[in-house]
Amino acid sequence: MKITTIGTIAAVALIALSGQAVADEKLEIGQKIYERSFGRGCGTCHDISSNPQLFALVKAGTLDRAKFEKVLKEGKGGMPKAIEEILKVKAVTAAGYGEDQAVDALYAYLGSK
Ligand code: HEC
Repeated sequence: MKITTIGTIAAVALIALSGQAVADEKLEIGQKIYERSFGRGCGTCHDISSNPQLFALVKAGTLDRAKFEKVLKEGKGGMPKAIEEILKVKAVTAAGYGEDQAVDALYAYLGSK
């Protein structure tokens, strides 16, 4: 095998690996948002069965990304506005995530469980 071919294979493998690392980091940040925003996390309210079950709704595709984001930004009934609380989570500031990235990470985490 030529050196250049080996180099190309190594580069491709490296790109694949870093893509995986980015995906893992995203889910981890999503989890931290779920567990830590509002101090005690979304689960304080959403792990109660009479409130919307976010994991199930996202997984089933009944709660789409646009509606999810709208509720986080505007609130809804007993659901407080959440976007500012989400951006305060340490993992979010540490990663330098903006609104879109933070909402993406949280939505991906909810769909992954
Ligand atoms: C203080 C309790 C409380 C906290 C904390 C809370 N929620 Fe909620 N959430 C609710 C309630 C109650 C509803 C139902 C509101 C309604 O339908 O009138 C709701 C609804 C929602 C909905 C809309 C679901 C649907 O299908 O209409 C989304 C999305 C949501 N919450 C996401 C979150 C996320 C993400 C967090 C954490 C960042 C969070 N909530 C934290 C109480 C809470």
